[in-house]
Amino acid sequence: MAIRKIRYDGDDILRKTCKPVEKMTGRIETLIDDMFDTMYEANGVGLAAPQVGVLKRIVVIDICDGNPLALINPVIVSSDGEQEGEEGCLSLPGLSGNVKRPNHVVCKALDRNMNEITVEGEELLARAICHELDHLDGILYKDLATDGLHSIDAPPEIEDA
Ligand code: NI
Repeated sequence: MAIRKIRYDGDDILRKTCKPVEKMTGRIETLIDDMFDTMYEANGVGLAAPQVGVLKRIVVIDICDGNPLALINPVIVSSDGEQEGEEGCLSLPGLSGNVKRPNHVVCKALDRNMNEITVEGEELLARAICHELDHLDGILYKDLATDGLHSIDAPPEIEDA
């Protein structure tokens, strides 16, 4: 297992469309392990393969709910509701922006044994699934941010409840 180099915004690879995984190989097993290591090292809750320079449809997500996910060839098959909130990305360090996402998604994918799985996510998990899947089609959250990006060192004033 190893930490891989994270690609940052401005790197062309983040704007490309990723190819489906046809079969599991030792290289892809290693890639998935490295993606988890790289995500945890960077304190992220999700990472997509293009963020480590690989144009394959693979994402890893761990929202610290005790259920780390490796999703291969993931597709959102249904979504409903709406949430709006701050989002960040390991490829845009130090920044965040407000993004609208569905509040609930159902995602079909293959697991690392290439078995079909269905993952259902609400709130943070739904947001993470949407964000990571977007990466596989070259979409960054900044494209969707309703009010531009801001530095997380200087957050906007938050109204007292
Ligand atoms: Ni991201």
